[in-house]
Amino acid sequence: MYPHETSASLGFGRSNGRATWGGQPLGDLLARAGVPTPAYFYDLAAIRARVVDLDRAFGSARHLIAYAVKANSAGSIVRTVQEAGAGIDAVSGGELLLARRSDVAPRKILLSGVAKRDDEIDLALSEDILAIQVESVVELSRVAARASAVGKRARVSMRINPDVEIDSHAHIATGHDAAKFGVARRDWAGAFAELQAHASRLQLVGISTHVGSMLRKPDAYLSSADVVCDVALDVLSLGHALEYVDFGGGFGIDYGDAPAAPPREFARAALGMLQTRGLADLMLVVEPGRSIVGPFGALVSRVVQHKTSGTRSWVMLDAGMNDLLRPALYGARHRIEPLDNPPGTAEHQIVGPVCESADDFGTFALGDVPQYVVFRDAGAYSFSMASEYNARPLPAEVFVDGGEIVRVNPSPGVESWLERRLRS
Ligand code: LLP
Repeated sequence: MYPHETSASLGFGRSNGRATWGGQPLGDLLARAGVPTPAYFYDLAAIRARVVDLDRAFGSARHLIAYAVKANSAGSIVRTVQEAGAGIDAVSGGELLLARRSDVAPRKILLSGVAKRDDEIDLALSEDILAIQVESVVELSRVAARASAVGKRARVSMRINPDVEIDSHAHIATGHDAAKFGVARRDWAGAFAELQAHASRLQLVGISTHVGSMLRKPDAYLSSADVVCDVALDVLSLGHALEYVDFGGGFGIDYGDAPAAPPREFARAALGMLQTRGLADLMLVVEPGRSIVGPFGALVSRVVQHKTSGTRSWVMLDAGMNDLLRPALYGARHRIEPLDNPPGTAEHQIVGPVCESADDFGTFALGDVPQYVVFRDAGAYSFSMASEYNARPLPAEVFVDGGEIVRVNPSPGVESWLERRLRS
């Protein structure tokens, strides 16, 4: 039993048939927030509890939870994870700046990404972050050149590609040999030669990996971690003063289809491996994104109309694929339920207003057509992947903490879109 996943006062629940959020009726929170739908709701208390729970799993071992901020970059969320002791895994200069301006200490920030621009490398150098996670041999020489240009020695980590296949959607599997990510095994010798050649400009502080997303149990995570340990041991024997190993993120969540081990189980397994391999002196870094925020976000949408044709029934929403892209892009299924009634038996095809056939969220048993619906588990890769396609402004965001609304970020509105398009 995982208390944070089941507590009625954290994230989504139901009481007297009504959906609740942080223990409060979500419909009441929507009215109190005073924003039009579609609107995202987040539970900061639940996110905080998730980070604390993961943190505790490391016990007294040196570790860093580098939250993969691409999953959700809302300032309130970044500040919440920062206050709970986490750092940030950034994949762009923008995310790095967000972390710094949210008071994340430089040595708790990593910069990952396959094609960092020179200005992003320069920013990482000037902020003196924990490491630039280098993903190719050519990138090593580019970082060395930038370090030389600014008169510094760059702290780098080598992201290896362990060639591990995972059972996940093709778009989110990254650790196989044909992926663009990381340094493939055949290039490791070349990478070490490059590090040696630029030793005055490159300081190897970490070995890292990330094999993909939505791992439901730690086994694939451990297979790739094992390869990271092999490389770390080699590197130590070559005399590099390694500071950390980073096993990446990818802890899955339960979207209502199958259970997933909670983050702390991944942490314990990772720690066990580090100890078994005799590497317990190194800091252990993990990069979870989805598992920190995914279950603790919801998207509330209004039913615009109900179209029937023959035996078909479409429930048409004011939220579309521009607000929540995952179903269209990955065939992902986010549970959709009525806001103020329990789900019923009558099934409806739930679609958005965007002029694309892919703007379809799937068939759900809503029962009688409700006025509002709630999409569950929409805290990760949801708002952060939203767009303004079809002149649809970005949705509002409402932050709840301990059942109270603590911040509202209204939609920029259509006027903002119009102003920017008219000036283009
Ligand atoms: N570290 C690196 C280097 C990554 O590329 C990612 C995710 C993470 C950490 C965090 O992985 P997580 O713990 O969130 O699984 N948009 C997709 C997921 C893309 C994941 C990209 N990389 C989705 O909505 O399923």
